[in-house]
Amino acid sequence: MTVEEKLGQLEQFDARASMNDASEPKIYDEKLRLGRVGSFLGLSGASLTRRAQRIAVEQSRLGIPVLFADDVVHGFRTLFPVPLGEAASFDVDAVERAARIAAVEATAYGLHWTYAPMVDIARDPRWGRIVEGSGEDVYLGSAMAAARVRGLQGKDLAANDTMMATAKHFVAYGAAEGGRDYNTVDISQRTLYETYLPPFRAAVEAGVQSVMAAFNEIGGVPMHANHELLTTVLRGQMGFDGVVVSDFHAVHELIDHGVAAGPQEAGLLALRAGVDVEMTSETYLRQLPAAVRDGRLATEVLDQAVRRVLRAKHRLGLFDDPYRYCSESRERVRTLTPLHRQAAREVARKSFVLLKNEGGVLPLSRRLATLAVVGPFADERRNMMGSWAAIGRVEDVVTPLDAIRSAVGAGTRVLHAKGASLKAADPVALAEAERVTREADAVLVFVGEDYDMSGEARSRSSLDLPEAQQALVRALQAIGKPLAVVLFTGRPLTIGWLAQHVSSILLAWYPGTEAGHAIADVIFGDHSPAGRLPVTFPRAVGQVPIYYNHKRTGRPPDAAVEHTSKYLDVSWTPLYPFGHGLSYTSFEYLDLNVSAQKIHPADTVEVRVTLVNTGTRAGDEVVQLYVRDDVASITRPVRQLRGFQRVHLDPDERRTLVFKLGPADLSFYGSDLQPVVEPGTFTVFAGGSSVAPLSVQFEVVGS
Ligand code: BGC
Repeated sequence: MTVEEKLGQLEQFDARASMNDASEPKIYDEKLRLGRVGSFLGLSGASLTRRAQRIAVEQSRLGIPVLFADDVVHGFRTLFPVPLGEAASFDVDAVERAARIAAVEATAYGLHWTYAPMVDIARDPRWGRIVEGSGEDVYLGSAMAAARVRGLQGKDLAANDTMMATAKHFVAYGAAEGGRDYNTVDISQRTLYETYLPPFRAAVEAGVQSVMAAFNEIGGVPMHANHELLTTVLRGQMGFDGVVVSDFHAVHELIDHGVAAGPQEAGLLALRAGVDVEMTSETYLRQLPAAVRDGRLATEVLDQAVRRVLRAKHRLGLFDDPYRYCSESRERVRTLTPLHRQAAREVARKSFVLLKNEGGVLPLSRRLATLAVVGPFADERRNMMGSWAAIGRVEDVVTPLDAIRSAVGAGTRVLHAKGASLKAADPVALAEAERVTREADAVLVFVGEDYDMSGEARSRSSLDLPEAQQALVRALQAIGKPLAVVLFTGRPLTIGWLAQHVSSILLAWYPGTEAGHAIADVIFGDHSPAGRLPVTFPRAVGQVPIYYNHKRTGRPPDAAVEHTSKYLDVSWTPLYPFGHGLSYTSFEYLDLNVSAQKIHPADTVEVRVTLVNTGTRAGDEVVQLYVRDDVASITRPVRQLRGFQRVHLDPDERRTLVFKLGPADLSFYGSDLQPVVEPGTFTVFAGGSSVAPLSVQFEVVGS
């Protein structure tokens, strides 16, 4: 290979602008013929990808196939809930299935490579990209990361319906100062190891084939120039052997970070740090041939990156059949199938979190004489899809209003009023909403944050519901009819007023294509909600960052003692804690016990707890197990999630659940940053949220 052909393998071109225009890809034809394109971003569709592939394979000197990459984040044509919502299901198998279906659809369109899962831990809801991940917790986030990698990559990467997954954004992107996207990150080594690296490790262990570098710097070193983290830690310590891809234009942005004087230095820094593929900024292809020739870029560094890209193409089976992914017939018959829609409906209803349900307003009877369906989200389509909606189409989406109309009995009149627009008040619409509410026996109010208020570059300094919608709920609440709010959001919101005044709140996130049906399934009680918060809901934005697995401090908060860690103007507690979520039935936890009072550091202890459905309906419960290392040489969190199981019980049914706690669950990084299980007592908590009160202790003895 010539130097230019090698660098071409490392270059990724953005074809998104041309996605809808079959003639546009031609601008890349010459580059393809010259072997200057390693991969495309955003070029999909069986015929377009086949056309480009044919040029690469049949008309270039070496005939190396190209890769087609895109962001397939929570579905492709059939959309599943946004990732934060999926995580709220606490259902690893359901999330794996959703990823599997996304891969089946995307690969039929010729795609080989997705930029998902996003595995960034996010403790700051001001950061809009919190919607793309699994929330604040390392254990849940790691489980979801691995599930998504398994779903996307399947068992055989060379099969025509599996694709390369990408764990992104490496690393600590979610720790941006002030929650402002792309901003500086400055965290301790310990926080990096304990909080931000583990989901990447889980993805690597699940076999992830690609990792994307993050836009941020850490402690003065931008990630795209961070050899220590991209190479020593990711490859050396974690054993990653796939492809590292840059984020969009981020190699060039090393100039903006102020560590490179120009594009050539930027390219050199990135390639030497371990960024194999450059997304869109073309510093490699344009600037590095000269650097190879004058000896500033060692051939071995270049060859190593090229080898990784070629190996990915080999693992995908492209050297055997470069066209195996693009298939017009699969494109037609394997997308948006009834089975895919059914799966999307199931995952969506599993993702809903019943935040509050006083007086049992929910579930609603199907036999109400009149039901008011109000709010700017009631008849929305685009907003049901969330951000990164791939090739999802609004016309595929079932709105809540449509689904409710078809779910109620013939004797029920459904009255609809918008009440407000998404961001602005509308007095005429408000009056109409008040009128239909007065006429109704119950009212469902669909409010939330516009989908485009969370996502990339969507940081907010306020976490309030838009004022017009808040005013709508206040006005309808004052009428005094049974009222339930269905809330759409991609981040925790400060909904203190709702929590205090509204009797029922169902958190729906952005549920995807089958939004309406899934909502109707839960609203009318065919399925009891059981989703749990994967992230803490604060009372006030000033509490952020607020997360359940915080440290104790030397002065834990105590309302009765002045000089303890708290606020003058708001409680230190969250509005809704991590793991919170109610059900239409009730559960009791009994007999929490451990298999041994004392164990050695290398041993595993079994924890058993009995769950009883004490209510009158069948339902799922998410049983959560938390552990606290009571005394350690390094301060430990007040508790840490170490197990969860989503189980279904009929009324009066009871089940004893078994969890295992081994060295991986009990260890932490010691002062030398090596994992250690220290002797001493551990407290185990079990229950339905992170404030579960039931506890039992055991002791680790010996060293
Ligand atoms: C985002 C990535 C995404 C990439 C390609 C970037 O702006 O940060 O998450 O994969 O664009 O679309």
